Amino acid sequence: MQIIFYKCHSGDAKYEVVLFEQANRIGGVWNYPAGCEENLEKDPASPFYSRMYKNMRTNLPTDLMCLEGFPFPQGSRSYCDVQTVNNYLEGYAKHFHLSEHIKLSHRIVNIAPQIGDKENTRVAAIGPRWTVTYEDLQQSSETSEIFDAVLICTGKYHSPYIPEISGLKHYRGPILHSSEYRDPEQFRTKTVLVIGGGPSATDITTDMATTAQQIIVAKRKIGSLFHNNQLPNVLETTMPKTFNEKEVVLEDGFVPCLSTRMAFPLLVALVPITPLLDCQVKYFKAILDGQVQLPSTDDMLLYNASDYHRRTSDPKGSPRQVAHGLPEEAAWAYLNELGKEAGFDPYDPVVPQLTKAAFEAIFSGNPAYKEHLLHRIDANSFKHIKATA
Ligand SMILES: Cc1cc2nc3c(=O)[nH]c(=O)nc-3n(C[C@H](O)[C@H](O)[C@H](O)COP(=O)(O)OP(=O)(O)OC[C@H]3O[C@@H](n4cnc5c(N)ncnc54)[C@H](O)[C@@H]3O)c2cc1C
Ligand SMILES: NC(=O)c1ccc[n+]([C@@H]2O[C@H](COP(=O)([O-])OP(=O)(O)OC[C@H]3O[C@@H](n4cnc5c(N)ncnc54)[C@H](OP(=O)(O)O)[C@@H]3O)[C@@H](O)[C@H]2O)c1
Repeated sequence: MQIIFYKCHSGDAKYEVVLFEQANRIGGVWNYPAGCEENLEKDPASPFYSRMYKNMRTNLPTDLMCLEGFPFPQGSRSYCDVQTVNNYLEGYAKHFHLSEHIKLSHRIVNIAPQIGDKENTRVAAIGPRWTVTYEDLQQSSETSEIFDAVLICTGKYHSPYIPEISGLKHYRGPILHSSEYRDPEQFRTKTVLVIGGGPSATDITTDMATTAQQIIVAKRKIGSLFHNNQLPNVLETTMPKTFNEKEVVLEDGFVPCLSTRMAFPLLVALVPITPLLDCQVKYFKAILDGQVQLPSTDDMLLYNASDYHRRTSDPKGSPRQVAHGLPEEAAWAYLNELGKEAGFDPYDPVVPQLTKAAFEAIFSGNPAYKEHLLHRIDANSFKHIKATA
């Protein structure tokens, strides 16, 4: 979604913006290219690379996911499929004439500050200029250029993480990461162990439950917010004791484990991502325009260290692995703060209300929640028509 950033600057004669994308198309995680089911590619620049699955639908309504000034097409379902989001992003780039400024198949390989370059620094608020080195993946050539400012929008969901799990190395059956899951047909009549209790684990379980014989979902925290306990062939349990070559050993017995899925642990901000990105981009532009003065680097590092210490040392606070996360109230407060400092309205009053309803739907455990209609009516109100399980 670097394209939001680009939109903010294009048309402003003060700025010349270049957007580098290593893939051969825009869309980021919202790509599900032909061939990605047969070719499980790990390189994000590959034309077959995907992190999505065939039946993936958004877990937030499109009225919370749309970028400012460009709604999803009329008549879209509230929770739409991957292709609809991908078409939407391409439509956005076309509408705002962004494509001609995007360098596809270009990978950033290094970004280094121009130390001691004070006299050439044009954006004093953010320090020195930057030497950016990029590779043209089609020509296999490398180039370095100097930029006044750099905004890194590389996403956070492209490095699959499989944690150390007791005894897993003994297991000889197939083990897949959630980003390698594509199609429930692969699991027809199988028994599958899913490890994790986040959105990936929950949504993939719902999808696989249409074909698999049984799914055991192993979680560190039973009773976590995400759950699938309304599906007859799904059983939630605690983490396995260990594994042997063919089986997983649970506290109360063995389950032949034909496949294991891992969800990946990442940072969380409990507000929809799109309003968050919109606000961060506007704030960044306010810094470049000189409207906002950042504290010194030392002060910012000091603040970060003390904030992190406060979060991790409070026994009621977040556990260390999600200590950078912002719970919902804190996340809205953060956006309000950005808006106040940079002089913009961060979101319409309807956005937190719609978000609350959307999160309640996700955490309800109703496997049919993506059939709900959850539409913004205007800046202050929305409608919610619920589907039953
Ligand atoms: C399975 C899954 C389902 C999701 N479902 C939802 C949902 O329903 N609703 C929702 O709001 N969000 C959802 N998300 C979150 C989603 O990540 C965000 O909505 C959004 O796509 C984030 O956009 P982004 O631009 O920050 O990151 P990305 O979409 O990851 O884009 C980052 C881009 O940077 C490029 N890049 C990375 N490194 C380099 C480099 N060195 N050089 C050049 N280019 C580089 C990548 O190729 C990529 O195209 C989901 C995520 C996943 C993984
Ligand atoms: N549209 C959709 O339907 C959809 C589908 C998939 C993903 N997504 C999006 O994709 C993003 C990522 O979601 P995600 O579910 O992949 O990641 P996530 O929210 O970070 O969840 C990771 C899960 O892995 C578990 N885990 C991590 N380390 C573990 C370990 N060592 N042992 C056991 N369990 C471990 C975590 O357990 P704890 O809870 O105990 O920490 C957590 O439940 C989110 O933005 C989500 O909304 C959306």
